[in-house]
Amino acid sequence: MPSREEVAYFGAGPAPLPTPVIEAGGKAFVNYNNTGLGLAEISHRSPTANAVLAEAKSALTTLYDIPEGYEILFMQAGGSGEFSAVVHNLVSVWVERRRRKAEKALGNDEDKLLERLRKEVTEELKVDYLVTGSWSLKASQEAARLIGTKYVNVALDARKANNGKFGRIPEEATWSLTPTKREGGTGSAFVYLCDNETGVEFPAFPKCLEPQGADNEEDERIVVADMSSNFLSRKVDVSKYSVIFGGAQKNVGVTGITIVIIKKSLLPPQTATPPPALLHKLEIGGLPGTIVLDYATIAKNNSLYNTLPIFNLWIASQVMVNLVNTFGERKVSGQEEIANKKAELLYTTLESHPQVYQVVPDKSVRSRMNICFRVLGGDAEKEKEFLAGAETLNLTGLKGHRSVGGIRASNYNAVPLDNVEKLVRYLEDYATK
Ligand SMILES: Cc1ncc(COP(=O)(O)O)c(C=O)c1O
Repeated sequence: MPSREEVAYFGAGPAPLPTPVIEAGGKAFVNYNNTGLGLAEISHRSPTANAVLAEAKSALTTLYDIPEGYEILFMQAGGSGEFSAVVHNLVSVWVERRRRKAEKALGNDEDKLLERLRKEVTEELKVDYLVTGSWSLKASQEAARLIGTKYVNVALDARKANNGKFGRIPEEATWSLTPTKREGGTGSAFVYLCDNETGVEFPAFPKCLEPQGADNEEDERIVVADMSSNFLSRKVDVSKYSVIFGGAQKNVGVTGITIVIIKKSLLPPQTATPPPALLHKLEIGGLPGTIVLDYATIAKNNSLYNTLPIFNLWIASQVMVNLVNTFGERKVSGQEEIANKKAELLYTTLESHPQVYQVVPDKSVRSRMNICFRVLGGDAEKEKEFLAGAETLNLTGLKGHRSVGGIRASNYNAVPLDNVEKLVRYLEDYATK
């Protein structure tokens, strides 16, 4: 049986975690801090659980420099759960803002209010999706399943500019976002993007989504980002986003925890939850949403509305505390330097053997987290041979996505530089043998 040190695992998620955290996790699972009980056995409402929650929030706030006006939620149901949650919650916010405005103009006349809101839903409700890979595609499909395709504006389908395949992000000028009031429209309920798709990563925050000092709601772009696969791997200006979410199981912890960072202005008391009866009458599919995915409910209960897996949260908190302790003042930028260095090593090696290796995505949007490439133009036998050779050296988890094929080396935070160097040596050997 190989030891952890002997195996270099590059799986796409769940992904490796720091060995000291896993070892401490083993102890905490059996007997946490000599209490005679394991962390998975204690109440999520106990002082111990509350301390874990507070520590996780504090470490994350430090790492990302999360500003005052944001709340951190710990949820379940993974990244995919958030595909739905975003729609449930942010379309509700849209309705509530419209309801407030209508009430100001029309007073409490319920029939008139309802008539106006129905008209606005029909004519103006839109959610914008930037589809740059299979995850944002899935998220947009979930929105369409919940509220109906007529409300979903796919502002960008990156495949259209790349021969039907993902792998590039076309110029912003080609995106067709719903215009804000300033641009002559009425804005969308939110703009959704996936910061890191398999192989494709936004190089920076899109210029066209930069806040424009909006002092009214119609000009505010509510930007939502799925950071499941590049969470805590680079510096992020949180203030540009309204919602950031990520499943923990790649860079932060084990499956079972989803982290959500949300602007408090989208939560009560600043934005009330629209009355369920109103939502029923408006007949917008999927609204009101499931209570365990309701941001307002989760925020009000400090993420403890229902049983939160405290052991899983503790793992995430330990990973984050380790990052705080390791990088000090550099915070997440410290991790970013390492992630960039590892990715650079791999891409440089691949590029130095263009006859053997072909990197799949365009250079401008290459992911630092998932390095996707083909061997000898995607020759199935050669790729099998490449993977088998890697396995014999304990370089594992390199097989590409089942629907895409090829090779995918995932370079998450806990993949040590040493392991990347081992892979680089194998890439060199294979190419020159
Ligand atoms: C970017 C991204 N979003 C969402 C998901 C789905 O996450 P989950 O399996 O936790 O629902 C993944 C999973 O790999 C992902 O990489």
